[in-house]
Amino acid sequence: MKIPKELIKYLQKSTHIAILTGAGISAESGLNTFREAQTGFWSQYRPEDLATPQAFARDPKLVWDWYAMRRNKVAEASSNSGHFALVDMESRTPNFTLITQNVDGYHVQAGSKNVLELHGNIQKVRCFDGCGIVDDWEDNSEVPHCPKCNAYLRPDVVWFGESLPLDALNAAHKATLECQAFFSVGTSGLVQPAASLAHTARQKGAIVIEINLDPTPLTPHVDFALHGKSGEILPALVKETWG
Ligand code: OAD
Repeated sequence: MKIPKELIKYLQKSTHIAILTGAGISAESGLNTFREAQTGFWSQYRPEDLATPQAFARDPKLVWDWYAMRRNKVAEASSNSGHFALVDMESRTPNFTLITQNVDGYHVQAGSKNVLELHGNIQKVRCFDGCGIVDDWEDNSEVPHCPKCNAYLRPDVVWFGESLPLDALNAAHKATLECQAFFSVGTSGLVQPAASLAHTARQKGAIVIEINLDPTPLTPHVDFALHGKSGEILPALVKETWG
């Protein structure tokens, strides 16, 4: 993949970079994405059966087992060259913010520091009744109970119809407003509010770069669309920009 020269020059001068990642960046680690035909979770399952508070209230064990299966897959695999390239990019950029929709924790595992997990983390659980308890996910075949109020514990991820963690969302907005370059990597850009960040960055004068296997609804609005695998494009881009 040839990285455009104008992009390299622009990035070399940039002090503020924000990145949004989605399931595509972890695809080369072996994790499923959500919306790709055949392999995406949402082409095999209905989100309303597995990823809503109503689904958990109806059948906690079904939802728990599905997230336990995903958590096992996350544990069996690890970060890939795309995640590691973003660690390098952070070390070269004075103000760098990595906003992720992924719950796999691979950015932190790779060594990225300023990471905002907008959709939570599959390694953690929290009280379904909202009493405030958040804990590490221990291996349980049964749905565990909250040590404080005895309600069920649920995966600490954001479900459809729920709000995003406010601190992370506010920090993501701030980074988006301040950045000179905004990357959208491995996301279909269909889920709000994350999807609107690239447009906000553009309105504030940042250049927007998309890295994705395929075109997305964002593609017509970006300055640079780099089509291919993020695990190949990101390392090439970092090497050509910062040596
Ligand atoms: P999607 O499955 O919607 O999109 C994944 C994107 O990654 C697609 O556009 C693919 O073309 C692209 N892709 C796949 N492999 C790639 C690779 N190796 N390199 C680059 N791009 C690649 O996943 P998300 O956009 O992350 O929310 O989905 C957003 C949210 O919807 C998820 O966080 C999840 C889901 O419902 C919650 O669970 C709250």
